[in-house]
Amino acid sequence: MTRSILALCLAPLAALAQAAAPAPAPATPAAAAAPTETPAPADAPANTGGKATTKITYSQCHVDGPYIAMTFDDGPHPTQTPRLLEMLKQRNIKATFFCVGQCVAEYPEIAKRIVAEGHEIANHSWSHPLLSKMSEASVRDQIEKTHQALKQAVGFDVKLFRPPYGGFTERQRTWANAAYGYKIILWDVDTLDWKHHDPAQTEAIALKESKAGSIILQHDIHKTTIDAMPATLDALAAKGFKFVTVSELIAMDKPVPPKPKATPAPKPVASSKKGAAK
Ligand code: NI
Repeated sequence: MTRSILALCLAPLAALAQAAAPAPAPATPAAAAAPTETPAPADAPANTGGKATTKITYSQCHVDGPYIAMTFDDGPHPTQTPRLLEMLKQRNIKATFFCVGQCVAEYPEIAKRIVAEGHEIANHSWSHPLLSKMSEASVRDQIEKTHQALKQAVGFDVKLFRPPYGGFTERQRTWANAAYGYKIILWDVDTLDWKHHDPAQTEAIALKESKAGSIILQHDIHKTTIDAMPATLDALAAKGFKFVTVSELIAMDKPVPPKPKATPAPKPVASSKKGAAK
């Protein structure tokens, strides 16, 4: 059962090989995207050139308070997602779920529950291929089918898209934003939960790497990830973090102030306070 879901959600790379027949004139040089979710894509939104363009892509946000967004990908999963939802409910924590369309079509009631319990739900493609290598038509199909499956399940148009493996070209980002109003959501903390399947490591990475404005990547299709959550959530809360959805985090996002060049680190220690025992 689990295996079928995993196969469904995680293994469509084989299909990708066929689907990715060379498209006429590749739109943009493909964004370097490894076929695994290991390397967090560089937080280098293409629109940082000082132009007054609207920001489309987020790997993290810059916020004043200790806010972070827990994100869970590749579900809904028939048993693990409901387990997670219970844990979140007990703690009154809101998270964001990037769902695979074919899993939404299979478990629409779980998608509905995600929203009913105050979480954010979003598009993570139909069958989890590496979109940056696919033809335009195939990419549109992946996104449109999922958009509609989600709309049918939850009753509204979702606002966020996360490309599988973070692989999405600049041109694809621009198109998805124009066609759906999507913000493209990556991450700055990758717990690597799908790789090590170790609850202790998931917790350790989340605790070590999260900072204000972080978007934390996890997967609600792995039992070991959900096993990690009670301790991870409680430890993050104990450190003072507050959990919000990705859209809430984006709403708090502030432009990064220009680096204050003329402010060297506190090198000259005030000599006038030599005697102070502090
Ligand atoms: Ni994924």
